[in-house]
Amino acid sequence: MKKQSPWIEIPAVRTFEHLRAAVSGYTYSRIILTSLELDIFSVIGKESWTSSRLARAMDASERGTNILCRNLASLGLLSFQNGRYKNSPLSATSLNRKSPEYRGAYLSLLQKHWNEWSQLTASVKSGKPHGDNESGSEEEDRRAFTWAMHHRSRDIAPLIAQHIDLRGASTLLDVGGGPGTYTLALLAKWPKLHGTVGDRPAALQVARAVARKHPSGKRLSYLELDFMEEKIPGNYDVVFLSNVVHIYDPNENITLLKKIKAALNPNGRIIIQDFFLWDKKGLRPIETNLFAATMLLCSDTGNTYSAQEVKKWMTKAGFRNVSTIKTAREPLLAGHSQ
Ligand SMILES: C[S@@+](CC[C@H](N)C(=O)[O-])C[C@H]1O[C@@H](n2cnc3c(N)ncnc32)[C@H](O)[C@@H]1O
Repeated sequence: MKKQSPWIEIPAVRTFEHLRAAVSGYTYSRIILTSLELDIFSVIGKESWTSSRLARAMDASERGTNILCRNLASLGLLSFQNGRYKNSPLSATSLNRKSPEYRGAYLSLLQKHWNEWSQLTASVKSGKPHGDNESGSEEEDRRAFTWAMHHRSRDIAPLIAQHIDLRGASTLLDVGGGPGTYTLALLAKWPKLHGTVGDRPAALQVARAVARKHPSGKRLSYLELDFMEEKIPGNYDVVFLSNVVHIYDPNENITLLKKIKAALNPNGRIIIQDFFLWDKKGLRPIETNLFAATMLLCSDTGNTYSAQEVKKWMTKAGFRNVSTIKTAREPLLAGHSQ
């Protein structure tokens, strides 16, 4: 399935020059992550700066700041005119902590991934996550992660919601719904729908805070749940399962799908969103395979899967008419409980 991807396409590595380019991918990451550590985009704000004045404001060296700014301008994150640097529209908003559109929680998660990816060799050997990458208590880490999910999806969710036809449905359960961002977008589109986010307590705290500021937030309920340990209570018309499948292995997912089927009304349905592989060999899109490495680093049994494989699990769990829903982004999978 053809998809539009904003990811940098690296050609198949056939020559030593390709190899150099592929290995040097980290240099782009490091320039951006260092800029975030120095908070350069917040310092720049709405003004234009010479690199020497910026260096003083950031308490950094003039030489280092100049090289950093030139690279950021090459990447398009800063503009450069008449010897002065300014934020790009993206840097001025998503990367600037003074902006209401700042996505700091997700940026922190990307910074955390840098440390986790440094452990990849150990994780490939052991098949498990390595090192203590947690920054606070388990609850604090879960809250921070849930905010990160909100900062990641708050502009994508309304786009995805446009493609989900929930005519006739009155109740939706978002299993592992985290901040509830997708459900809130669906509630905004379907005014008669009532949504429930089912997740752990720390995630639900964030979902409540997000919903308080959302015009459809009053139609959202909260279900404290560990869906691996417990049955999923209730009778819903729709279950949305977004970015959960990749946390677990195939057997765990089949068990979860069976629990979801039991929590659906007889004519109910499931809609699944995830990072799926779409080609026959399971090699594309590359970001899905790269994300599998993130799951190796951060989860005990997670992985990424082909859409075909997940459709087979859905059928095994008893879903019928399993199909694909096209969206403005990645396609979704849908199945009926009868
Ligand atoms: C990657 S996040 C996805 C959040 C949201 N669905 C989205 O697409 O933005 C996975 C969510 O599943 C929740 N989750 C994972 N395992 C769970 C379990 N066993 N019981 C309850 N929630 C769980 C996590 O707490 C987290 O909020």
